[in-house]
Amino acid sequence: MAHMRWHLEDMDFSRIDTARLRDRDDLFLLVCSASFIESGSSIYTRNLVDYFADDAEISEWLIDHWEPEELQHGRALKAYVQHVWPEFNWDCAYADLVAEYAKLCTADALEPTRGQEMVARCIVEMGTTTYYQALNAVCDEPVLRDLTWRIRTDEVQHYKHFYHYFLQYQQQENLHRLQVIAVLWHRVAELRQSDADIALRHAVAWRFRDSKQPPTFDAMSKQVYALIRPEYPMQLAVRMALKPLQLNASLQRRAERPLAAIARLLLLNERFNIGSSR
Ligand SMILES: [Fe+2]
Ligand SMILES: [Fe+2]
Repeated sequence: MAHMRWHLEDMDFSRIDTARLRDRDDLFLLVCSASFIESGSSIYTRNLVDYFADDAEISEWLIDHWEPEELQHGRALKAYVQHVWPEFNWDCAYADLVAEYAKLCTADALEPTRGQEMVARCIVEMGTTTYYQALNAVCDEPVLRDLTWRIRTDEVQHYKHFYHYFLQYQQQENLHRLQVIAVLWHRVAELRQSDADIALRHAVAWRFRDSKQPPTFDAMSKQVYALIRPEYPMQLAVRMALKPLQLNASLQRRAERPLAAIARLLLLNERFNIGSSR
């Protein structure tokens, strides 16, 4: 049985101040899309476990720790959604999403070498760490704050594990910096569009299924990003993304600020363009 830092049973959902949240479409969408992505972890895990099948240490960690923790994130967030918004048909919305998501999670989506795949996993865990940190900062409901911080802490630990395995494979494979940069480049670029976008799209579609005048996806997505953007820990994101490059400390420090500023601008621009691009 996997050892976990916390258990779903530790959470007391009866303490949730439901009335304060029921009308918050933006928070619903943020929590719900996260619950979808986390619950979908098992689809991705099979490929990943197969890829590392003959590495006993890594596959054991993936199966006994990483996957159960990701799935627990999914169950806890789902339980939260169902507690505050019981009318939302989570199971049907999720089934709908899985049909689309499963097509994207093929073995082809893995990186060409194991070391590079570990860089990709670091970027994914960076994405979740920063997401939950931002969500934690924008919600003022105590149970959700508690839950998002627990999950955030798990994601940091996942990052550390993947980073540690990256160092092992980097040596074995003699990975050079350009190969690491190549992975960083396309993983960071696709981070926002792919999984998160599909999850948000389904959450919006199912949330407003029976409304006479449902808001557009663009409008909802703008509202959600407007809430989260000011709290997004961009400097932490940049620091975690740069770490696999193993720059010396002073170079990394000097690179962090300008890169964070550029990333912030890009994020801002992207959201402003969303209306015209879809
Ligand atoms: Fe997670
Ligand atoms: Fe994770």
